[in-house]
Amino acid sequence: MKQVQVQTGGKLYLAGEYAVLTAGQTALINYIPICMTATAKLAQTTKLQSDMFTYSASRKPDPNYQLIQASIDTFETYYGQSLPKFELDISGKLEKDGLKFGIGSSGSVTVLTIKALSVLFNQDLTADRLFKLAAYTLLKSGDNGSMGDIACIAYQALIAYKSFDRKLIAEQIRKHDLKTVLDMDWGYEIELVQAKLSADFLVGWTRQPAISKDMITAAKSLIDQTFLQETEKEVQICKEALLSADKNRLKDSLQKVSDLLEGLSSAIYVDKLKSLKEAEKGLDIIAKSSGSGGGDCGIAISFSQEDSQILLDRWQDAGIELLYQERWNHD
Ligand code: PMV
Ligand code: MG
Repeated sequence: MKQVQVQTGGKLYLAGEYAVLTAGQTALINYIPICMTATAKLAQTTKLQSDMFTYSASRKPDPNYQLIQASIDTFETYYGQSLPKFELDISGKLEKDGLKFGIGSSGSVTVLTIKALSVLFNQDLTADRLFKLAAYTLLKSGDNGSMGDIACIAYQALIAYKSFDRKLIAEQIRKHDLKTVLDMDWGYEIELVQAKLSADFLVGWTRQPAISKDMITAAKSLIDQTFLQETEKEVQICKEALLSADKNRLKDSLQKVSDLLEGLSSAIYVDKLKSLKEAEKGLDIIAKSSGSGGGDCGIAISFSQEDSQILLDRWQDAGIELLYQERWNHD
């Protein structure tokens, strides 16, 4: 019997978080290949199992399985007929010791479920289709995010994501069928960014879970035009610097977006994220909080391998765990 297996990873913001909640703003988001796995096969009865929970579900609505079930519903509508019965098994919680990493598990599970079903039921989906179907699912479920996370997870690459007007598209979703909405231009832009610098990209995990949804609700009213304009300017500089391997401009722009975040709300740079950033002192490294802040992860881009080691020692002393690292363009 046909059995398929697919994986999706997580994401972390380099720059543009919070600003990207406003339509038309850009964020740089890096793919983190710490993955969840879905196994799917045809079966006598439909059974959904996630290792997040101690029980399985069917297609009968279950609050814990809401996102998985909503993703299945979206795919079924896309498929155009009732889906045959199947088993879907999802494993690989993006967490440790019961604490989440904060690298985008809810977005990832949506992309993962749709991807698994598309392979099981022989529907080739481009990354863009996958993104739109996942975004459709999340918008219908009332998600208040920018959808930058699922753009990055669907494309599995470092991307520049220009956000779309989610309110407007949510309205279209209420008015029109899926196919009509999928055929519309939503107004977002997703561009793959190839980092040309030689550097270490490091992820530090604070072990303090933060809830993006609540962080967004708290900070949203603080976002003003100045914040948006200055962030956009630095995000564009940062993107150009990545593409042209301009270390100093990269460091400078990331420092500026970090300052802008610090000025936006004191809830972002909690003590551990402050330590994560301060660990860069005197080193050829730029570090910052990533995403909503308040805990979860921060990132660092290091231009010296010796300095990377010093940073990691400092992180360890501050109780910050190295969650992931990748090397850009080293020979
Ligand atoms: O904390 P994260 O990695 O989920 O990132 C949230 C980024 C925000 O811009 C604050 C929200 C969003 O959905 O874009
Ligand atoms: Mg977070």
